[in-house]
Amino acid sequence: MRLTTTTSYSSTTDSERSALAIDVRNLTKKYKNGKVANDHLSLQVDRGTIFGLLGPNGAGKTTLVLQILGLLAPTSGSIYVEGIDVISNPEKVKPLAGYMPQTRIAMRNLEVDRALYITGRLRGQSHEQARKQSEGLLEMLDLTEHRKQFIDRLSGGLLRVAAMGMALMGDPHLVVLDEPTNELDPVRRRMVWDVILGLQDYYKHPVTCLLVTHNVLEAERIVERVAIIDKGKVAAIGTPGELKSQLGDEVRLEVVIKPDVLTEEIALKVEETLHDFGRVIPFRQGQYAVFVPRVGVGSATDKILGALDGLVDDFRLSPPSLEDVYIHVTGSKIELEDEQ
Ligand SMILES: Nc1ncnc2c1ncn2[C@@H]1O[C@H](COP(=O)(O)OP(=O)(O)O)[C@@H](O)[C@H]1O
Ligand SMILES: [Mg+2]
Repeated sequence: MRLTTTTSYSSTTDSERSALAIDVRNLTKKYKNGKVANDHLSLQVDRGTIFGLLGPNGAGKTTLVLQILGLLAPTSGSIYVEGIDVISNPEKVKPLAGYMPQTRIAMRNLEVDRALYITGRLRGQSHEQARKQSEGLLEMLDLTEHRKQFIDRLSGGLLRVAAMGMALMGDPHLVVLDEPTNELDPVRRRMVWDVILGLQDYYKHPVTCLLVTHNVLEAERIVERVAIIDKGKVAAIGTPGELKSQLGDEVRLEVVIKPDVLTEEIALKVEETLHDFGRVIPFRQGQYAVFVPRVGVGSATDKILGALDGLVDDFRLSPPSLEDVYIHVTGSKIELEDEQ
């Protein structure tokens, strides 16, 4: 597919800023009710990368992307998107970016195919360009059989996919997807991941994707770099590998207690035993992760299995996951309903 971009922005700014897709410095957003949703937050995103914003609900992720897109005015700080000063020129960023909102999806009173087409036209496409691209996207997103349904009437999952289609119309340099896979079944979730991974091929030029998620697994599978956002700040940033290596001197030891022996008393005993060996995170009922130093993991294993003799149903050793980093950094547990 060949789509044309009509405006060139590179001449308006210095080369260093233009080199970055997103350059946020010292950004603070205080809502009218006094809530500080972003607190002196700084973030740099390279062009052409899939960048994850990971964090618990209420961390300030949506607030951040609204400001990056020029849809919400910051209290203080600076934001540049491909060299454009978003705060003084918010209208210049809009044509560059495709945005899939977390809520408040547009064009609810249109059929799916019309909504895609109109989005393209609003983004400056000709009739033929918009028609061609919307047809292609309906197919790519497996929406063909739903094309005549009103956006309003779609189920939660299909609504998200249709909103993603709208975000992809035109020829964006930056695609911002806010919780794109919430409410999606596993098959559609995988499809959405494939679409995100294929964006460069689809547009035939570098596209930056800012993927907001509270699903750690999703972040781990498809993002190149990730920032863990917590309480309005960047709590950690790097590739998933770099973040995991921060816990690299530890090994994760997972213990599953036999369901038929599990009582409150036993649970207490297990936690106390594990605490002697390292940080303990109870996952689900009867499932624990304990982070033990890599050195001496063998003897720790023997001692734990000895102390819990007869209680253990399953036992695993693994390197720390991004989920472990997330829990370590934010103190939040993972929202299990979104795991696949
Ligand atoms: N329009 C608003 N007015 C007041 N507070 C808000 C508004 N939008 C969000 N907040 C608050 O700001 C914080 C961050 O919200 P949000 O950016 O939506 O976080 P996230 O997307 O990470 O879940 C939350 O405490 C939320 O309640
Ligand atoms: Mg949000």
